[in-house]
Amino acid sequence: MKRTILTLVSLALILVFAGSLLAAEKGNSRKGKYTFRKGCRDCHVEGGKAQEMSPANKTQAQWDTVFAKDKYKEFPCKAEWDKLTPEDISDIYAYMYEHAFDSPSPAKCK
Ligand code: HEC
Repeated sequence: MKRTILTLVSLALILVFAGSLLAAEKGNSRKGKYTFRKGCRDCHVEGGKAQEMSPANKTQAQWDTVFAKDKYKEFPCKAEWDKLTPEDISDIYAYMYEHAFDSPSPAKCK
């Protein structure tokens, strides 16, 4: 009996741990939306310094390319990206990806 409980408890711990790892890797799309609005929308709006940017401007595959490792170093705005933590960047990635043009829930408007 004691062993069963022990096994169940360790299983539960493993699940929680694995779950948080996955979440960290995927990023938090709600936080990403916030971070994007705070740090990127200044320029990436209609009539701004850069082209308007919304998750629905690109497909999921295109966002994959944009957020591929260190790809942003080629963007004119890499200084803005450098201000962010890797976590912030993966949050923005999650936001873009989940609401991409070909996603199940594309972003409608701003
Ligand atoms: C100071 C203004 C400014 C800020 C702030 C800024 N950008 Fe940019 N960004 C630019 C300019 C200028 C370009 C190049 C012209 C263009 O693509 O519109 C660019 C290009 C890009 C591109 C490449 C264009 C494409 O469609 O593939 C991406 C992606 C991008 N920015 C994302 C971001 C993200 C994410 C943030 C927030 C971390 C951000 N930008 C913040 C000015 C800015």
